[in-house]
Amino acid sequence: MDLYEHQARELFADHGIPVPEAETAGTAREAHEAAERLGGRVVVKAQVKTGGRGKAGGVKLAADAAAAEITARQILGMDIKGHTVRKVMLAQPVDIEAEFYVSYVLDRAAGTFLAIASAEGGMDIEEVAASRPDAVARIAVDPAEGVTAVKAAEIAAAASLPPETAPVLQALWQVLVREDALLVEVNPLVCTTGGKILALDGKVTLDDNAHFRQARWGDEGADPHGDPLEAAAAAKGLNYVKLDGEVGIIGNGAGLVMSTLDVVAGCGARPANFLDIGGGASAQVMADGLSVILSDPAVNSVFVNVFGGITACDAVADGIVQALESVRLTKPLVVRLDGNNAGRGRAILDGRAHPLVQQATTMDDAARQAADLANRAADLAN
Ligand SMILES: Nc1ncnc2c1ncn2[C@@H]1O[C@H](COP(=O)(O)OP(=O)(O)OP(=O)(O)O)[C@@H](O)[C@H]1O
Ligand SMILES: [Mg+2]
Repeated sequence: MDLYEHQARELFADHGIPVPEAETAGTAREAHEAAERLGGRVVVKAQVKTGGRGKAGGVKLAADAAAAEITARQILGMDIKGHTVRKVMLAQPVDIEAEFYVSYVLDRAAGTFLAIASAEGGMDIEEVAASRPDAVARIAVDPAEGVTAVKAAEIAAAASLPPETAPVLQALWQVLVREDALLVEVNPLVCTTGGKILALDGKVTLDDNAHFRQARWGDEGADPHGDPLEAAAAAKGLNYVKLDGEVGIIGNGAGLVMSTLDVVAGCGARPANFLDIGGGASAQVMADGLSVILSDPAVNSVFVNVFGGITACDAVADGIVQALESVRLTKPLVVRLDGNNAGRGRAILDGRAHPLVQQATTMDDAARQAADLANRAADLAN
């Protein structure tokens, strides 16, 4: 689960990382009051779980509480990369001398953690990393040792950060460990004109597997990305990830679903989601999966790709037939059943003879049909 900046700021403060005074507001009026408490002049910041807020106009300085109210009114409701701004954070402005970048991230490929740091932080860090990789230090962190004072000094030196940043580097590691995070990022970490080190922005990704022992987040863990379809799917216990395409995908087994996404993409269409219904073939899971996928307005066709193993295809076909009793099919459904009892499964679907359900015997054929159906629907709409 990604945290909002204001939540990351709270965690930082809990672990002794200096942050500016700040409050959140859900309305322009609340922003006015918060700004007054903070001394009038404030930075108004969109709270969305995506980057590039500043460049999208979601971070603005307001000279006084009245200006903060006007600015908050502009930012609230704004769309930033598909995320609607429902809250703003108002933070006391600081005079910045220098902006740094620091983060810890799990490096799955290397099987360790990585400290990434740069003396050239701020909104253009991606550009710096791309054009001058030398300006970004990457140092492996052994999780068994953690970030000791010596390690923190090593990271700071490698990135040419002032030595005063070392205690923050140590505290930030504690945030990662204690809060079960997979990523903690501060950009910018600033040195103020008065020589103070402050975290002005924070990004934290928590490990969902540790949600059970991080009680403070309550039900929020069920909505890890703020996507309404993912939230609905999570509430039904489905392994669903929303993607950007038009072909809904249901499969059994994560590996099969992953390759289904590839095959659909290879047929010139884009998958609308990842959905692994796993073993078992209950009509309930099929109905839940179908109803989530069909409630995605982008979906033009649905591809059910099942390879029968322990769960036989006739059980899956029964599940589909029963699901069609409770879910109104609004888009064509292409089903490929193969493996254990495939013949019986296909016969069950043939027997149901639903006008929107068609079958294919191979994964490639099914993907092509689902892709063609989705693309034809898209052409008709244009
Ligand atoms: N409290 C503050 N006082 C002064 N300047 C600030 C403050 N907060 C942010 N800024 C300035 O605004 C810039 C952008 O802010 P921030 O890093 O929070 O947003 P962003 O990087 O655009 O968002 P994201 O990290 O989501 O891409 C910072 O680099 C900093 O220069
Ligand atoms: Mg930032």
